[in-house]
Amino acid sequence: MNRRNFLRQSCASCALGLAGFSAVLAGCTSKRYIIGNMVKDGISIPLNLLNPADGPMAYYIVRNDKLLFPICVFHTDKKNYTALWMQCAHQGAELQVSGNELVCPAHGSAFDSSGKVTNGPAVNGLRTFPVSVLGDDLFIDLRKRKA
Ligand code: FES
Repeated sequence: MNRRNFLRQSCASCALGLAGFSAVLAGCTSKRYIIGNMVKDGISIPLNLLNPADGPMAYYIVRNDKLLFPICVFHTDKKNYTALWMQCAHQGAELQVSGNELVCPAHGSAFDSSGKVTNGPAVNGLRTFPVSVLGDDLFIDLRKRKA
């Protein structure tokens, strides 16, 4: 194989690999990050954006320009969801999802999918919101803070 053919074949392989990798990344990100629609009293998310094939404990990060922090929605089982404000209860850093919990990059606090503290220094749980299915949408009620 001469140099020209080697380069031609190598570049073609790389291009195919990158195209496949991009498709995989696009598939991952489109399932996890959702722009919620601000509606009266809360945020609405079309249920068709949530993928039942993601399985139990799937999570979705819901953003909207009007929110100071995103909201993490855990699909805890077939019919139940939890919605957690992604602001650390310790000193206010934005949380990150790690498996089935939210962790704080600032000082290491961790919270389970219901918002309870699993690791300090945070003492208080996260702000949570009631979630319900209304027609074809998931509705996060921002008026109420769940106990
Ligand atoms: S701000 Fe999150 S642990 Fe300190």
